[in-house]
Amino acid sequence: MSVVGTGYLGAVHAACMASLGHEVIGLDVDEQKVRLLSSGKAPFHEPGFDELLKEQVDAGRLTFTTDPADVADCRVHFIGVGTPQTSDGDAADLTYVDAAITNLLPHLGPVDGRAPLIAGKSTVPVGTAQAIAERIAPTGALLAWNPEFLREGFAVQDTVSPDRIVYGLSKDEAVAAESKAILDEVYADLLAREIPLVVTDYATAELVKVAANAFLATKISFINAMSEIADATGADVTTLAEAIGHDDRIGKKFLRAGIGFGGGCLPKDIRAFMARAGELGLDDTLTFLREVDTINDRQRVRTVDAARTAVGGDLAGRTVAVLGAAFKPDSDDMRNSPALDIAKRVQDEGARVRVTDPAAGAVLRARGSEFDVVDSVEEAAQDADIVLLLTEWRQFREIDPVELKKVAPAATILDGRNALDPKRWRDAGWTYIGIGRP
Ligand SMILES: NC(=O)c1ccc[n+]([C@@H]2O[C@H](COP(=O)([O-])OP(=O)(O)OC[C@H]3O[C@@H](n4cnc5c(N)ncnc54)[C@H](O)[C@@H]3O)[C@@H](O)[C@H]2O)c1
Repeated sequence: MSVVGTGYLGAVHAACMASLGHEVIGLDVDEQKVRLLSSGKAPFHEPGFDELLKEQVDAGRLTFTTDPADVADCRVHFIGVGTPQTSDGDAADLTYVDAAITNLLPHLGPVDGRAPLIAGKSTVPVGTAQAIAERIAPTGALLAWNPEFLREGFAVQDTVSPDRIVYGLSKDEAVAAESKAILDEVYADLLAREIPLVVTDYATAELVKVAANAFLATKISFINAMSEIADATGADVTTLAEAIGHDDRIGKKFLRAGIGFGGGCLPKDIRAFMARAGELGLDDTLTFLREVDTINDRQRVRTVDAARTAVGGDLAGRTVAVLGAAFKPDSDDMRNSPALDIAKRVQDEGARVRVTDPAAGAVLRARGSEFDVVDSVEEAAQDADIVLLLTEWRQFREIDPVELKKVAPAATILDGRNALDPKRWRDAGWTYIGIGRP
């Protein structure tokens, strides 16, 4: 099989498929990435991925190329290229998906007398799969949409043990049956472990992915809205979340108030979903997602406001330690990272900002950061007027407040992820500020 687009999704998918015993070729347009991956080195930080990649490359089951001709013999082509937000609007930019299909088209002949299958994994607006199916029909190739739900930081685990697998299949019964048979072979190991399989049509499969992300984003913005109310009333949003989370219908997950969501998926996916609804004449249907997005942005502004207040009303000339640059822990992905955004806003107000992040720090430095990037919490916090915890890495959650106070005598911390124990920090002499916590 081939995996077209070997970024966060594609590279992990390729290595995981190889680990299931398949022979996999990763195809990407980025020569440097292909070179790195071919040598068994991961181009990004993802727990467990380095080892898996090296193991599969060494075993000879996993190779990488920039030449589409190399994948001509593949029975299955997974599409995992990016679908970012367009530069001039909210919609998804499908340029990369279109290019991936264009590059594959000349190589889509029968393999061992059977039609090859293109299986889309990228997150796309509803209607995209049908359009691709029509484009590839003259070659005889089949199309399925097989959305991906992996979480960065758990990508390997989520790929080999997903919560569910979704097949979006053609309305043509023969095409659907053949596509399903191929995917069943690909995922035989997972299906044998009784991982739930949902078989549906293209439109539903495309929608499942964006609906899931819209729901998760809504849950985060809901609890963040509660944090605003808590801040105004002296209530504690963490206790509120715990209490409502005991209700099975609500659940505890994704109810941690903080600086909000970011990354390469949630923000652009909810915007693309709204844009697609508009194209369908359903502008009003998803307007609540605009509010979800607005609440999320406001958390960043509120965090900067809280930091400014904590240092006496003016950030200019202050030294600010920023713990975390990645949009979430166990990742070096800084796409639409709330942590970086807040660091930039603070710096724009004239503060001296020192950033540290266990994985993203090196990436930040390599790309020529506008911030002073340092290697340790102690360096970042040295004589800082305020410490901002913005990505909840385990290393930061486990900081000893007594020790840290020795280098940061101003001893003021803003816990942007409500990840610390306020009592422990206050007992150590710190001024602790959380999000929606008294
Ligand atoms: N990252 C995640 O956690 C995640 C989870 C679920 C779904 N997704 C979806 O998966 C898709 C990919 O996301 P990502 O985070 O891996 O993006 P990414 O930017 O890390 O990777 C995309 C890759 O595609 C390559 N590419 C672009 N055009 C190409 C072409 N014509 N042929 C071959 N390769 C090409 C790029 O060079 C890049 O390596 C998106 O639609 C995203 O929404 C991502």
